[in-house]
Amino acid sequence: MTGTAAVITGASRGIGLALTRARLSRSRQELHLGHEGSRLEKLFAVCRNPSSELLGLAASTPRVQIVQGSLTSATGPADLATAIRQGCAADGLMLSELYNIAGSACAPFFCHMDCLYVSICLILREPKLGVEPERRLEDMANLDGMLNTFAINSFAPIRLIGALAPQFCSHDQMVRVASWSARVGSITDNRLGGWYSYRASKAAQNSFTKSAAIELQRRKQRKGGAAVVAVHPGTVDTALSAPFQRNVKHEILRPEASAQMLMDLILHLQLEDNGKFFAYDGTEIPW
Ligand SMILES: NC(=O)c1ccc[n+]([C@@H]2O[C@H](COP(=O)([O-])OP(=O)(O)OC[C@H]3O[C@@H](n4cnc5c(N)ncnc54)[C@H](OP(=O)(O)O)[C@@H]3O)[C@@H](O)[C@H]2O)c1
Repeated sequence: MTGTAAVITGASRGIGLALTRARLSRSRQELHLGHEGSRLEKLFAVCRNPSSELLGLAASTPRVQIVQGSLTSATGPADLATAIRQGCAADGLMLSELYNIAGSACAPFFCHMDCLYVSICLILREPKLGVEPERRLEDMANLDGMLNTFAINSFAPIRLIGALAPQFCSHDQMVRVASWSARVGSITDNRLGGWYSYRASKAAQNSFTKSAAIELQRRKQRKGGAAVVAVHPGTVDTALSAPFQRNVKHEILRPEASAQMLMDLILHLQLEDNGKFFAYDGTEIPW
């Protein structure tokens, strides 16, 4: 085996789509420059429903393989890992990169189909009910919303890392795993409060990332090593930030710019960077 493969979640739109494009473009450059060592041969673009942009990208090259599935169902991450393992085995590739990008700032009041009618009625009656991050303690009543926020932001990244761990440990290449956190997930950096579930879900994700970093580095000792990190993409102009951009005083990045900066950072990670939390500009964020 010489070629490698990468997995990108949330690849349908926003930062995930931009990162998919950027990583594909980098792999083409590596090919033209006769890059030494292992080359990225395949990008597994994980999503619920592929957008027309992602479908177009996959149609343009066999290097992009769309893998549809759920990150939040009971067997979703394991099923995705099976599809990815089969895809790697078919081409004799080593899985060496994971970009955990899928995430949400808030979750609908109810997500289950049997509650859809109630959900629509409640949201129509009170548009803000459960569809915005909580601002005050009295907003902390929406258990379904909180569980859904944690399911995608906290549990999905670590469950996918867990499901892919055997593949990361089956070869001697260095492994790079980055999970898209947010500066607001830093407990030290929290000066404003609010956004309770989003903050806490990213803080929980950070804790999972740190533990995964310790375990994967131990399991990859003398097998190429691992750099597992949390990253903050900046405030990025996507559907996620759109409702809140009017309050933002600092620079708002284009998804392409944020994705490019973080891809460069992740591809240059050293073993001593394992278990750290980085912003898009390379500065370290305290946990
Ligand atoms: N934008 C910012 O300013 C900002 C700032 C800090 C951190 N972040 C983080 O950056 C990451 C990417 O955000 P973005 O700005 O690109 O957001 P976005 O444009 O809203 O895209 C979110 C992505 O996550 C996927 N996703 C959301 N909920 C999901 C679920 N329950 N199951 C599976 N996939 C789900 C979406 O898939 P579908 O297309 O299927 O809905 C979409 O691909 C997130 O983790 C976010 O927390 C963003």
